[in-house]
Amino acid sequence: MKKDYLFICAVLMVSATFGQDISQKTAQKTQKSVKIEQKVDSVLSLMTLEEKVGQMVQYNGSWDVTGPATGADNQQRLERLKNGLVGSMLNVLSVNATREAQRINMENSRIKIPLIFGYDVIHGYKTIFPVPLGESASWDLDLMKRTAQVAAHETAAAGVNWTFAPMMDVSRDARWGRIMEGAGEDPFLNSKIAVARIEGFQGDDLSAANTIAACAKHFAGYGFAEAGRDYNTVNVGVYELKNTILPPFKAAADAGVATFMNSFNEIDGVPATANAYLQRDILKDKWGYDGFVVSDWGSIAELIPHGVAKDKEEAAYLAVEAGSDMDMEGGAYEKSLEKLVKSGKVDEKLVDDAVRRILRVKFRLGLFDDPYKYCDEEVEKSEMYSQANQQVALEAAQKSIVLLKNQDKLLPFSASAKNIAVIGPLANDKDSPLGNWRAQATANSAVSVLEGIKDRAPKGTKITYTEGAKLSTGKRAFLDPMTFNEQNTSGFKEAVSIAKAADVVVLVVGEDAFQTGEGRSQTDLGFAGVQDALINAVTAANSNVVLVLMNGRPMDLSAHNEQVKGIVESWFLGSQHGSAVADVLFGNYNPSGKLPVSFPRNVGQEPLYYNQKSTGRPEGGAQVTWSHYEDLRRDALYPFGFGLSYSDFEYADINLDKDSFAQGEKITASVEVKNTGSVAGDEVVQLYLRDLVGSITRPIKELKGFKKIHLEAGETKTVSFTIDEKLISFFTKNKIWEAEPGDFKVFIGGNSVDVQESQFQYN
Ligand code: NOJ
Repeated sequence: MKKDYLFICAVLMVSATFGQDISQKTAQKTQKSVKIEQKVDSVLSLMTLEEKVGQMVQYNGSWDVTGPATGADNQQRLERLKNGLVGSMLNVLSVNATREAQRINMENSRIKIPLIFGYDVIHGYKTIFPVPLGESASWDLDLMKRTAQVAAHETAAAGVNWTFAPMMDVSRDARWGRIMEGAGEDPFLNSKIAVARIEGFQGDDLSAANTIAACAKHFAGYGFAEAGRDYNTVNVGVYELKNTILPPFKAAADAGVATFMNSFNEIDGVPATANAYLQRDILKDKWGYDGFVVSDWGSIAELIPHGVAKDKEEAAYLAVEAGSDMDMEGGAYEKSLEKLVKSGKVDEKLVDDAVRRILRVKFRLGLFDDPYKYCDEEVEKSEMYSQANQQVALEAAQKSIVLLKNQDKLLPFSASAKNIAVIGPLANDKDSPLGNWRAQATANSAVSVLEGIKDRAPKGTKITYTEGAKLSTGKRAFLDPMTFNEQNTSGFKEAVSIAKAADVVVLVVGEDAFQTGEGRSQTDLGFAGVQDALINAVTAANSNVVLVLMNGRPMDLSAHNEQVKGIVESWFLGSQHGSAVADVLFGNYNPSGKLPVSFPRNVGQEPLYYNQKSTGRPEGGAQVTWSHYEDLRRDALYPFGFGLSYSDFEYADINLDKDSFAQGEKITASVEVKNTGSVAGDEVVQLYLRDLVGSITRPIKELKGFKKIHLEAGETKTVSFTIDEKLISFFTKNKIWEAEPGDFKVFIGGNSVDVQESQFQYN
C-alpha cells in the first residue's frame, strides 16, 4: 500500500514537471504493472518449490479432462492438475473443456493459480483467413491487425486465452514447409506484420475477455534450417543473426508481446532451447523482456538427441539455466527440476524468475480476477463463424491475391468470355483452401473456386467443370513419394474436350493443404502428380488459360510460365477462397497483392531472396569466374514485392528534399505515382535503400518503408518517406546498432526490381 502511494506521488510529480512527457494513460499502465509486480511477489512467496516447478509445466490436453482419466499417465497428470502442479495446457478447446480443466485445478489445488490455455491459432480459429504468407502479400497492416483481432475473438470465445502466433521467422528457403506460416523473406516486412498481428491478438487491454496473449516464435533462427529441411541445423554468424533474424523479435518485444517460444534448431552448435545468449543475454537482459519463454513442443527433452544432454535431468538443467521458462510437453522440468534445485545444482532464483514471468502474464490476462472469464457459452455461439467474421475473411482473401501474369489483358474476363471451363484437381476443393494449421475449421467448409465462379459469373455465362486429375493419392510423401504422386491421367480427355469448347479456361493447380506446414519440407518446388501433363494438355487445347495457383510456398513456375496467359497466385485463402478468386477473375476486385517472397526459376536457386549481398564478384560479363549459375539466370522469376493490377501505375523520378543529412536530421524522399489505367486500383509503393560501403558487407537492397495507396483512374498522388538515422542503422563491426556515414542509394517502386533511383549522403 505504502509502496503504491509513494509510486503514485512520484508519477504525479514527474507528470507535473514534464507535462506532455508522461501521459495519463502511461501513468495508469505503469501503476497497473507496479500492482501486478506486488501481487506476483506475494503469490510467489506462498508457493512451495514443487508448486513453482509445476507452473513451469505445460501439458497437452488431448486427454479427456471432462471424463474419467484413463491410463496411468493421464491419471498422473490429473493428479498433478489437482495438486496445482500444472501451469498451462495446450489444445484444450471449447468453453466446456477449458472450464472443466480450470475447475479441477481451482477447486482442488492448494495454491489456486489459474491455468493458461494455449493453442495454435495461426490464421483463424473457426473462420479461416489466408495462411500467413498469403495474407502478408496484402501488405495491409490494418487488415492483418483486424484478422488477428477476429481470430482472438473466436479463440477467446472458445475459452482459450493464448495463441502460439505470430511466427516471425524470416524465411528464405521455399523448400522449408513452414515458410507458409510467416511473412516471408524480409526482416522489415516481418517486423511490421508481426507487430500488427500482435496488436490484433492482444488489443489495448490484455485483460479484456475477447483478447488473447500472443507468442513471438520461434526464437530464433528456425527459418534458416540448412537445405530447407525442417528442424535441421542452423549456422549463421552474429551479423546475420542481429541484422536479419532478430529484428522482428525485437519489434515484437517492444510491442509488448506477452510470450515468446523458443525453437527446435541449434545455432552454431547451441540449441536455441539451451541458448543463454539468445534467451538471457539478448531477450531478457538487453531487451528487458519481462514475459515468459515457452519451449517448443518437447524441445527441452530434445536436447538429448541434439547431443548436448545425456538425460532429461541434464536437459532440464541446460534449459532452465538458458532461460526457458515453461516446458511444453517435454517432461523434463516435471521430472527433474525440483531435484536439481534441492541438490544445489540450480539456483532457486532461476525458478523464481521463471515463475514470476508466468504469473505476470496470468495477472496481465486478468485470470486471477476471474479464471473463468473466457468461459461463456453464449459468446461462444454468437462469435464463432459469424457473418461479420466472414466479411473480414472475404476482404483478407481478396487483398492477399497476387496477379503474376496478365498477357493481352485477358483478366478480368470480358463480356466475350461466355463459356468458361473450370478445370483442375483443386478447382472444386472445399478443404485445401483452409491450408495447414487451420485450428478448428470445419473440414470442407471453404468456398471452392468453382463455387465462387458459379456465384460471381455474369448471368448467362456457361460454366463447365471437370477435375482432370487428382492432385495426389492422399498418402504422404515421406512414406513413399510414388504413392503420393498420382499417376492416373484418365480424366485428361474430358479436360481437353471442355477446354477446346471454352472461350477461356481457369485451371486450378498447386499444392495440397498439407504439403506445407510443420515437417513438410520438399526438395521439389514443381507440381506434384500429373499436374504438369494436365497443364500441357489443357494449354494445347486452348490458348486462353489462366492458372489459379493454390499453394503455401513459392513454386517453380518456369515450365508453364510461357504457356499460360494469366497466373493468379491465390495461396490458401481460407473460408472465402473461391469468392475472392472469382471477384478477381470477374473484376469485382482489382488485385493489389505483392509477393512477400521471391519465386525462383528453379529449386536449385534456393534459398533465394532479393536482399542478398553483392559478393566480391557480382558481375563477370563473358567471364566464367563470377557469382552465377552456368545453366540458369540467377534472379527470381517473380521478384519480392511483385504483383500486377488491372490499373497501370507510373512512377515519376524520386525527389529528395536534400542530398545529405547528419545525425538528428532527416531526408524526405517523395515520388509521384499516377494511375494511367482506366480503373481505380491500390498500389503498394515500396522504399528500398542500399548502404554502398559499410564496416560489414551490406545487402544490395533493403526494404525500408511501404505505403499502400488508392488511386482513381487518372489520379496522381505524391508518396513520401522519411529517412532518418534509425532507418539506416544496423549492427556494425563495432557490435552496436548505429548509422555509419557514407553514400546511400534510394529506390522507390512497385516491386524490388522495377524502381526509380536516387542517391544521398549521411554525414
Ligand atoms: C510445434 C511447433 O513448432 C510450434 O510452432 C507449435 O506452436 C507447437 N508445436 C504447439 O503446437
